[in-house]
Amino acid sequence: MLVSGEGTNLQALLDEALPVVAVASNKPGARALERARAAGVPTAVFELADYPDRAARDTAMADWLEERGVRLVVLAGYMHLLTPPFLARFPDAVVNVHPSLLPAFPGAHAIEEQLAAGVAESGATVHLVDEGIDSGPVLAQERVPVLPGDTAETLHERIKAVEHRLLPKVVRELCAR
Ligand code: GRF
Repeated sequence: MLVSGEGTNLQALLDEALPVVAVASNKPGARALERARAAGVPTAVFELADYPDRAARDTAMADWLEERGVRLVVLAGYMHLLTPPFLARFPDAVVNVHPSLLPAFPGAHAIEEQLAAGVAESGATVHLVDEGIDSGPVLAQERVPVLPGDTAETLHERIKAVEHRLLPKVVRELCAR
């Protein structure tokens, strides 16, 4: 799994005993790394500043994942775009979870943008990753209501509760293929 933040989706997969064999992050301080360590899963940090460019960083990260026998890469709150050389190493085997009903509201500010747009409905989407921003084929999607008085925090929490069911379900199916 690739993570940059809290790691609640990582935790959902760990709690369901899915075979998480490696967790990598671009951020050394990510809470998600602590969750992985607590579960005894190998972790590594690949900071952009330590490499000449993004492709070099992604190649090092792909090497590390491959060495650990990774067959499916799950992005859970990973906040960097992956370069084509990385995606080529795991064809049709990189998935992401996103807090909107894609293709609506891609990008890093989906929650704030949905609130600003005044949508009545949001959702969670699990999709295959391609070279675009949250643009690959949708694998699973579930609607979540936006309620009067919602803040970014309350809406995001409601969406995350759905993500924590949807992502493990899709990962389980992909692991079985
Ligand atoms: C999730 O809402 C996910 O959809 C988005 O980033 C958030 C990650 O949360 N891409 P966490 O780190 O799994 O708690």
